Amino acid sequence: MAPGRNDDCWCGSRRKYKHCHYQIDTAAQDQKYAASQAVYARNWKGTAQHHFDGRVYHWLAEQLADAKPKRVLDVGCGSGHGLLALREVLGSDVQIVAIDENRACLQEARETLGRSGVDAQVINRMAVSRTHEGYNHVAEPLAFPLDAACSLIESDVCNDPYLLPALRASGPFDAVTIWLTGVHMLRQENVNVQAHGIDSDGAHRLYVQNATYELADSVLRPGGVLQVGDRGVAPDSPLLRADVLQAHEQQASVTSLRVRSLTHRLYDEPNTGRTPMGLTPGTSGLVPVAFQLAVLSIVSEKP
Ligand SMILES: C[S@@+](CC[C@H](N)C(=O)[O-])C[C@H]1O[C@@H](n2cnc3c(N)ncnc32)[C@H](O)[C@@H]1O
Ligand SMILES: [Zn+2]
Repeated sequence: MAPGRNDDCWCGSRRKYKHCHYQIDTAAQDQKYAASQAVYARNWKGTAQHHFDGRVYHWLAEQLADAKPKRVLDVGCGSGHGLLALREVLGSDVQIVAIDENRACLQEARETLGRSGVDAQVINRMAVSRTHEGYNHVAEPLAFPLDAACSLIESDVCNDPYLLPALRASGPFDAVTIWLTGVHMLRQENVNVQAHGIDSDGAHRLYVQNATYELADSVLRPGGVLQVGDRGVAPDSPLLRADVLQAHEQQASVTSLRVRSLTHRLYDEPNTGRTPMGLTPGTSGLVPVAFQLAVLSIVSEKP
């Protein structure tokens, strides 16, 4: 029997059913993937507003300010609160291309930017179908305006053959950002995710970050930077710092990028109970018994 709307969800997430699987369970079969994306977008918006108000995104953007980027690619823009902070910190003349595989998030991002007077263009180009192996989420060819202040592109950074050529044709980027990677519930049933044997949020985070390291290597100008914004244990000892740096050096090792800096800011977990996030440990997997939560900024440079 299905739980009541205010009971804990059956999936073990400890979220209320109405904030978790309710909308997916009650959707028609061909609407379930979209329902999963919609639930995620709605939940993430609350967390992102909390981070925006706590200036988490401003702090992340400030870690890039030295590089004075004028053209930024953001991977997994979610509800767009980070894009607003990028504009506030780097200047309103910064050109932003943002991608997300979740169409409902792109719509949220358009509205978030619109409330601040930024007219962003959304490019929806993915279709979803259900096969016996899982959900197929497939992109159409991509062309986007080269001069728009902000383009929001529907794309799965791990599985989109048209993305890299279109980004490269649009010109080099000064910075690529990927902040706080997470994903909606039915993403686990995506055929590509399944084919990679990904069975946890942590494994999925690495999958998306690794694809972004490779993408950044191809679209950054020499001297351009990739910034990974991650949630983790505050690396406040030499051992923990080395552990995180080593993890990113491994991720960067298949590219020409060189890890340059690790900075962190203590972080206040939002109490919304809507989008619980996992911690990304370093290579050792070590999580100390007592630790403080932090947002980490790991910046790599293209030689
Ligand atoms: C936790 S949200 C973070 C959003 C935003 N970066 C922020 O910090 O507020 C993660 C976002 O990454 C997107 N995402 C996850 N995997 C992706 C992929 N393979 N390609 C594109 N976007 C992805 C999700 O749809 C989601 O909107
Ligand atoms: Zn659930």
